[in-house]
Amino acid sequence: MINLPTEFPDFGLTPEQRRHAVRGHYYEWPGMDGERGEIWCYSDRFSYRAGDTVALHVSSTAPTFSMTIIRDGGAETKVFGKSAIAARWQDTPDQCSAEGCGWEASFEFRVGSDWPSGAYRVTLTADGRDGKPIQSHHVFIVAPQPGRKPGRVLQVAATGTWLAYNTWGGSNHYQGITGPNRDQYSPIVSTQRPWCRGFVVLPNDAPRVPLEVAVPPKTVPRYPHMEWALATGHSKKYASSGWASYDSHFFRFAEQAGYGVDLASQHDLHFSPEILDGYDCAVFVGHDEYWTWEMRDAVDAYVERGRHAARFAGNFMWQARLEDEGRRQVCYKYRARSEDPAYLRGGDVTRATNSWEAPEIGRPGSATFGLNATRGVYAGWGGCAPRGVRGFPVYRPEHWAFAGTGIYYGDLLGADSHVYGYEVDGLDFEIRGGLPYPTATSGAPEGLQVLAVGMASQVEESADIPIEDQFLTDEDGRFTAETLFGDPSDANLEKVKRGNGMIVNFPRGKGEVFHAGSCEWVAGLLRQDPMVERVTKNVIDRYLGGK
Ligand SMILES: [Fe+2]
Repeated sequence: MINLPTEFPDFGLTPEQRRHAVRGHYYEWPGMDGERGEIWCYSDRFSYRAGDTVALHVSSTAPTFSMTIIRDGGAETKVFGKSAIAARWQDTPDQCSAEGCGWEASFEFRVGSDWPSGAYRVTLTADGRDGKPIQSHHVFIVAPQPGRKPGRVLQVAATGTWLAYNTWGGSNHYQGITGPNRDQYSPIVSTQRPWCRGFVVLPNDAPRVPLEVAVPPKTVPRYPHMEWALATGHSKKYASSGWASYDSHFFRFAEQAGYGVDLASQHDLHFSPEILDGYDCAVFVGHDEYWTWEMRDAVDAYVERGRHAARFAGNFMWQARLEDEGRRQVCYKYRARSEDPAYLRGGDVTRATNSWEAPEIGRPGSATFGLNATRGVYAGWGGCAPRGVRGFPVYRPEHWAFAGTGIYYGDLLGADSHVYGYEVDGLDFEIRGGLPYPTATSGAPEGLQVLAVGMASQVEESADIPIEDQFLTDEDGRFTAETLFGDPSDANLEKVKRGNGMIVNFPRGKGEVFHAGSCEWVAGLLRQDPMVERVTKNVIDRYLGGK
């Protein structure tokens, strides 16, 4: 076992700064670096195919910049470099997070026919006014060409969640500068803006959300990832989403392990569901919280037909909608029942941008991936099981997914690499004869087997920690109570506050689904945990039909 420190890491912030790091609203905006100057960039789409033209929209205080493009996979391969590209500073509307930046395209290039599917990292460098370089990073996806791809995996990046958490411009689906007092999150977020700092690249020592601390008795929790973000000038949400924190770790692992892996965005799944057709196995990883109805249709039909979905991800929570050809993502979330037009007369309430488990939608996440977000949620941070299990407690070690691991009943899978957290998906369940079974009202698909279950919490609750020192509080729990039972009463809160996170497996039609419902599964791949790698390979190998 890893010996954990008994003190929180400290990044040199004062107590006031630490509070601001967690409670405050700080974000990237044009002009934020003052006299030094800045360079920012976004592309017109999240993904392209070979032969497509990529339009880069750049705003820079320097008149020229240089640019490199690297394919960020099992190896880093430079595919493009150019210097002395002209740029200018472009005006940005105040509500750019929702409306888009509207910058003119500054530079266009074609995706080469020899650029394999994957993630491409763009680095723009220019001269700051103080003589030191200024830089920014962007990432775009090259999606695969159509056609049968035997033996290859299609990874679908959780781009809906990237977009939801992107802090650039001041508003996202969590916090924002919208509303009369400029203090509300935005139900509408635009793809037409740069990624926040830390979504594309991160140093290896950037903290992840789950605490790597043996928390001493009666300790007020701290949030190392947000303290580090403020101390180093990264996005407050760098550890919540993005290519760098999540999706890249699976992609890199898979290529280094010798798998052929292609990459698509969720926009591809939404607008071109046939992109799945060439593959025997589709993979979803990381923090994967926002889906559209159409994306679910695509995966459901694909599995029905005899293919396989492997989800190593957590927090299947919200239905979102895409508008303006995908340039806008809409999710009213906590305000859905009062503000989402889907609830108005003539609206289609099944498309409401609420929790998938809202009864009026009638399509709980479990119908696609076997687990539900409101039965799971927080583990390993804040006041939600900060001393919790770290790995998945295993109940059915004889299952094929665990072959070759040597794991036993009652073991924790991936505890050293901390794969369990920070948001997990679960089901209502009961224990009989020492084995977990979903309850009859859990929403579990027919034939679902629970392989592992850990505890999680939807409410921060301690008799010994004052409420003013809590960050997560009971807000999400009250919302879930109201969404599921119509009233955020104490009695309903009691029904929802104790959650869990599971690994499950079930057949569907002619196909099959495997789901390890935790955001942090990728931490096991990042930290090269042999058992986590073995389970991941067992799933992929079986679903590719090789073994
Ligand atoms: Fe989440």
